[in-house]
Amino acid sequence: MPLNWTSASPSLVVRGDNLDATAQLPDEAFTVVYLDPPFNTGRQQQRRSTTSTRSAADSVTAITGFKGVAYERIRGDLMRYDDRFDDYWSFLEPRLAEAWRLLASDGTLYLHLDYREAHYAKVLLDVLFGRDNFLNEIIWAYDYGAKSRNRWPTKHDTILVYVKDPSRYHFDSETVDREPYMAPGLVTPEKVARGKLPTDVWWHTIVSPTGREKTGYPTQKPEGVIRRMIQASSREGDWILDFFAGSGTTGAVAQSLGRRFVLVDSNEEAVAVMRRRLPDATFRVVRPRSTRSRAKRDAAATAG
Ligand SMILES: C[S@@+](CC[C@H](N)C(=O)[O-])C[C@H]1O[C@@H](n2cnc3c(N)ncnc32)[C@H](O)[C@@H]1O
Repeated sequence: MPLNWTSASPSLVVRGDNLDATAQLPDEAFTVVYLDPPFNTGRQQQRRSTTSTRSAADSVTAITGFKGVAYERIRGDLMRYDDRFDDYWSFLEPRLAEAWRLLASDGTLYLHLDYREAHYAKVLLDVLFGRDNFLNEIIWAYDYGAKSRNRWPTKHDTILVYVKDPSRYHFDSETVDREPYMAPGLVTPEKVARGKLPTDVWWHTIVSPTGREKTGYPTQKPEGVIRRMIQASSREGDWILDFFAGSGTTGAVAQSLGRRFVLVDSNEEAVAVMRRRLPDATFRVVRPRSTRSRAKRDAAATAG
């Protein structure tokens, strides 16, 4: 059954592949799009990507426009250099193209990456979305778990931030949770009481194994990290989209801030967690498009 989603619909959780689900959503409907893809698991992801829609691949071409040649060249160089990244990017690229299509003209895209992928992705996204559309590289730093002894322990994730239109994106730093000053003795007591505006380095604990937030979902992100993104980059009533929703952190935060949300995850276990965490949302399932309907669409695209 089609999703028939409009901006007047209630908040929604969809079980299914995010390419199948997001293909049914209208252009420029979301003020924040957040993507927290699984860490590069190589070949398994490549197999999944072979069922990606042609239309999404076509939108990559549409985005790259006159820079398409540069994009193809850089992409080719990176893929030849590291074939594991080739698998990963083949999976992610059509999803990023969809995310860009769905992002409102004043909207912001947050892409949450592991340090091993962040730099390749940054280079490709600068060409794909435009270097002028790059807003920030956020470093989420945490300090938990085992520490290697033969190099600096890697305890951060990278979140790349791009805006659809650098001249009109929404950003309100006044609404963001503030944090304690590192050297409170150097500022006035009023400033200490108010806290300081976070920079692009966010020190934040991971979800505590014994804390209130914990859902038991293995890759759950802390609400505090997602909250800053949604506070700064959207207003009450705006729509937030999460392509890889997992335990539904984005939905929980969006709801607490008076925003509305569409969350997608292909994993039944994730959806079960979200049912408990977001009981007021509507839950739907999208089925993979059949080979026949894909073939029909591809034939129409060729003819057109
Ligand atoms: C890193 S986790 C997201 C965690 C989430 N941010 C949270 O706070 O719980 C990635 C999620 O992507 C989902 N996923 C992987 N491939 C997918 C696809 N093609 N479509 C939809 N969801 C997918 C996985 O099931 C997993 O739950």
